[in-house]
Amino acid sequence: MIIELFESLLTPCSQAARKVGYLRGQILIKVRYRQSRRAWQSHLNRTKQLIRDATEVCPQRRKAVILGSGLLLDIPLADLSRSFREVVLVDVVHPLKVTLLARWFGNVRLVRADVTGTTERLTQIANSPRTPLPRSNPDLLCDDSDVDYVASVNLLSQLPHLPTVYLDKQHPRPEAEIDAFARQLIESHLGYLRRLPGVVSLITDIEKLQVDRDGRVVERFDILYGVRVPQPDTEWIWEHVPLNRLSKEFAYHRRVVAIKDIKAIPS
Ligand SMILES: C[S@@+](CC[C@H](N)C(=O)[O-])C[C@H]1O[C@@H](n2cnc3c(N)ncnc32)[C@H](O)[C@@H]1O
Repeated sequence: MIIELFESLLTPCSQAARKVGYLRGQILIKVRYRQSRRAWQSHLNRTKQLIRDATEVCPQRRKAVILGSGLLLDIPLADLSRSFREVVLVDVVHPLKVTLLARWFGNVRLVRADVTGTTERLTQIANSPRTPLPRSNPDLLCDDSDVDYVASVNLLSQLPHLPTVYLDKQHPRPEAEIDAFARQLIESHLGYLRRLPGVVSLITDIEKLQVDRDGRVVERFDILYGVRVPQPDTEWIWEHVPLNRLSKEFAYHRRVVAIKDIKAIPS
C-alpha cells in the first residue's frame, strides 16, 4: 500500500475528481484485481474479445476511443494500436503506468476527462442542498468525424457509484433526489453513445448477484437504478468477489452484458 500511496501523490488528477474519490477508487480496483486475478480472467478476456470482434466491422480504422480505460485490464491495447491510426484513452484518472505505456506505443493519446461532465459542479454544490444536482449532457468527441470506433468499457455502472457515495457523505439530500441523479447519469451516457460517430460498443455490468456456496443465486441487486440497456449480443458472469474473499458463505458475481454496436439497435 506504500507504493500505491506514493503513486497516488504523483498521479495527475483534478481536485474535484480527487474529492469525489476517483483516484482512490482506481487504486482499490488495482488491489482487488491482485487479490482476485484468476477469478477475473475470464471476464477480462471476454471483454477484450468483444472489442476485437466489434472492430472487425469498422469500414475504416482511423481513430478508436476507449471510455473508462482505467488500468487497461480489459483493453486489447496492442491490437487496437496496431489496427488503428490513433487510439484515444479516456478516463477521469490515468494511472502513471498507463501514461508511460501510451508513450511507448506512440499512437496512443490520453484524454483526462469526466465523461459525465458533472464532477466539478457536484463538488461545488454538494453542501448546498437547495441547489439542484447537476445534469449530464456529454458531447466529448461527438463532432470528431475521424472516430471510427468507440467502446464504453465496464464504465456505465461506475458513473453514479462514487458520486452517490460522495453525496451521501455531504449535506443530506432526499434519497429520491440522489437516485434520480444516478439514473440521469446512466441514461445520458446511453444517449451519448448513440450520438458518437463510428461503431459504438457497450460493455457493462448490470446486476450484482449474491451466490451461496453451492453456486445458487440467493439475491440480485440492480446496479443501474432501473435503467434498461438494449438487448445484448452476449452476456457472461464476472466472478467479482470470489468465495472466502469477503465472506465464507457468499461470493458476489456481476452479470455483464455486451453490445457490439449500440447504434445498430433501434432506441
Ligand atoms: C471498473 S473500471 C473499468 C475497467 C478499466 N477498463 C480497467 O481495466 O481498469 C471503471 C473506470 O471508469 C473510470 N470512470 C469512472 N467514472 C468516470 C467518469 N465519470 N469519467 C471518466 N472515467 C470514469 C474509473 O476511473 C475507472 O478507471
